[in-house]
Amino acid sequence: MDFKDQLKSSVDLVNVVGEYVRLKKSGAQRYMGLCPFHNEKTPSFTVHAARQFYKCFSCGEGGDVFTFVQKIEGVSFYEALKLLAERHGVPMPKRSLVADEDSKLREAVFRMHEQALESFRANLRGPSGEEARAYLARRGVAEGTVERFELGYSERSGRAFPRLFEQRGFTPAQMEQSGLVRRRDDGTFYDYFRNRLMFPIHNESGKVVGFGGRALAADDNPKYLNSPETPIYVKSQVLYNLHRAKEAVRKEDRAILVEGYMDAIGVSAAGFGGVVASCGTSLTEQQVKTLKRHSGRIVVNFDPDAAGANATERSLDMLLQYDFDVRILELPGGLDPDEFCLKRGAAEYGALLSDAKKYFFWLAQRGIATTADGGLESRIALMKTLVSKLQLMSDPWEQVAIAHELAGYLGIGDDLAREFRKAIVARRRPDPKPVPRRGGYNERVLLKALLDETSRRDEVVEALEGCAGVARLPTAAIFQAVFAIHRAGSPITFDGLNARLEEADRQRLAEIALTEDGEVEISREHVMDCVKQLVQSEEVDRRSQLKARVKDAERAGNFADALRLARELQEFEQAGEARR
Ligand code: CTP
Ligand code: MN
Repeated sequence: MDFKDQLKSSVDLVNVVGEYVRLKKSGAQRYMGLCPFHNEKTPSFTVHAARQFYKCFSCGEGGDVFTFVQKIEGVSFYEALKLLAERHGVPMPKRSLVADEDSKLREAVFRMHEQALESFRANLRGPSGEEARAYLARRGVAEGTVERFELGYSERSGRAFPRLFEQRGFTPAQMEQSGLVRRRDDGTFYDYFRNRLMFPIHNESGKVVGFGGRALAADDNPKYLNSPETPIYVKSQVLYNLHRAKEAVRKEDRAILVEGYMDAIGVSAAGFGGVVASCGTSLTEQQVKTLKRHSGRIVVNFDPDAAGANATERSLDMLLQYDFDVRILELPGGLDPDEFCLKRGAAEYGALLSDAKKYFFWLAQRGIATTADGGLESRIALMKTLVSKLQLMSDPWEQVAIAHELAGYLGIGDDLAREFRKAIVARRRPDPKPVPRRGGYNERVLLKALLDETSRRDEVVEALEGCAGVARLPTAAIFQAVFAIHRAGSPITFDGLNARLEEADRQRLAEIALTEDGEVEISREHVMDCVKQLVQSEEVDRRSQLKARVKDAERAGNFADALRLARELQEFEQAGEARR
């Protein structure tokens, strides 16, 4: 067994996928959830525990634990292997695999970030970190919070990392790509972050991919200096604090979205762990998709200023397109989430959080505040823009209910509200349904028996090989591949079988493997019964075919042919009797 197989047998796909997707058990061996690879409202993403295989019946994505990690983390095969090995404590043999150049570079940049984190944290604890420690104390950040969020301090000199990285054997090319140091015209390096409070930024699986550095003095610009994009840091894909927040987000089935590092830390320290930050940029589609894997409900809690309101509005469309239940929390007193939690306390924040109103009330309020006159005309115009947002929602009942509430809220007459309700319902588009293409029941049972049961394989294969009708089944190529593997004397495994098939048949096999026909275990009788039925239906087909040909020959006056065919039919029927 090579390392890949060894690793595969020691990790469980259901657990691995479960880190990224909320799965529900939906059969003896089957789990389902919303597909992480496309936008959908009803789950068609299926994971099979025994076969260690996943498949989306809607978009067609499918594969094993390695393809899943590659695809969801956007990494190479080698990196997926490494990530799984690290996460499951399986030591990776030094020369088991040769990494490609990209993977090697990324690996080096990851290691530089680990070392940078360690050194920033040491600085904060040490003598050079005194000013930063005082700053944190002034802002009410407890020591435990500093530890939990792994805060650090980048020292003043600007000479820390060039020396450290060189000592550790990183090449100038690797250093240049790390985003942690910069190259001067004369070729020497200096630290990118100097004299700043450091916030590590992690990816979803908890590895440090970048840093945000806050200035300690009010007149030091910019206030925040952030890592540039690097081979391991794609800003549009990362949400600050997601790796810590995701558990709470799932448990509470709600995410809190704030703007800044300090907000995420403050809200989390106040006891609301399911908080992530967009870090001052507008929310991207990637980030929304990522959140959606953990919960479909979100409270947007941006800063209570014009910039925050604009950012809220920008994030709305994206969230609604992905069918989020969006609520908006605007804190009173001009306080941002961090300040609010400190000054007014966790209890008050919690109360406002659970009271947060659905986004359309916020939009309506904002609309009323910005329309000049507040007259009927402008309220109707406002209602029209709100209705266009409502149409992004998928549930027509909810749309109608909300339209009704909004019309009341805006003081628009009942007649008018009714017109709006009609408009909403009329403009809905239904979801396209995926079309199943799997084979018939008997084929499914037989293929599953061949995959799962070694004891009766000989018997089943032998019976089926003699059955000419198998070649006419939609799943013929899969059966042929099974026969070939069997003839070669190899064990029939899902992967082995899959490897021999063309894409269309792989789809078919996946669909069969993932369909549960209610059976827990397939009995021998059941299997042989399916074989018999296949053989019989083949006989029925053959007989009616022969009969038709006899008739055709008679009609055409070819009596010699008709006689020959009739004899063939008779022999076939006798042979059939003998078989039974
Ligand atoms: N930001 C940035 N660059 C800046 C200002 C802000 O990248 N010059 C990003 C940071 O991610 C910051 C977020 O935007 O956390 C929100 O900005 P702001 O509200 O100004 O920061 P706070 O997190 O509230 O930080 P603080 O409380 O320390 O002022
Ligand atoms: Mn702040």
